[in-house]
Amino acid sequence: MTLLGAVTRRRSYPRVTADAPSHDELLPLIEAAATAPDHASLQPWRIIELRGDARSRLGDALVDASGLLGEDAERLAAKPLRAPLLLAIVAVRKPSFKVHEWEQDAAAAGIAHLLALLLDDAGWGVMWRTGGHTRSDAVRRMHKLADNEELLGWLYVGGKLESSKPDARKNLDVSAMITSL
Ligand SMILES: Cc1cc2nc3c(=O)[nH]c(=O)nc-3n(C[C@H](O)[C@H](O)[C@H](O)COP(=O)(O)O)c2cc1C
Repeated sequence: MTLLGAVTRRRSYPRVTADAPSHDELLPLIEAAATAPDHASLQPWRIIELRGDARSRLGDALVDASGLLGEDAERLAAKPLRAPLLLAIVAVRKPSFKVHEWEQDAAAAGIAHLLALLLDDAGWGVMWRTGGHTRSDAVRRMHKLADNEELLGWLYVGGKLESSKPDARKNLDVSAMITSL
């Protein structure tokens, strides 16, 4: 498949199976994603793997941040359990006179998009998820983030569930989004 084909075929998988890539299977994909453009090669990112019980601890942190109780809290706590593997994408702002924080965040987001594409191409179902509590103190603490770090969300990863296969993408008309000066 061409790169153009892989990019246009990729869709987010909201529901996935319990299969997940191992740490060793992830490494070459992350290595490839890390080749995304990165001004001054600051490597302003890192990835945290959340599997098993770590997903429940994230659910607890989301509930803590939300203040919800009862069934609403239970529903929120279960959200990270929707995939066997969550890859937390962390923007790590490095000291630099030349490269502003927003540029470093853009580089980190580029790596996350590339990783999602590579995982999809390798046969895994992926969905980038965020939510209102992504940058809450409770979620920060749970991920043990340093002061110079911010979460960009999580890639939810699992096996592609045929029954939840997203529809083929409609042709996007991007002409109105391209102008000239
Ligand atoms: C930064 C970011 C955050 C996202 N957060 C969510 C989310 O919280 N919930 C969700 O359903 N989708 C989320 N998405 C996925 C988009 O909804 C999805 O990419 C979009 O619906 C288009 O679907 P596609 O990826 O199949 O083209 C997020 C995507 C990005 C890039």
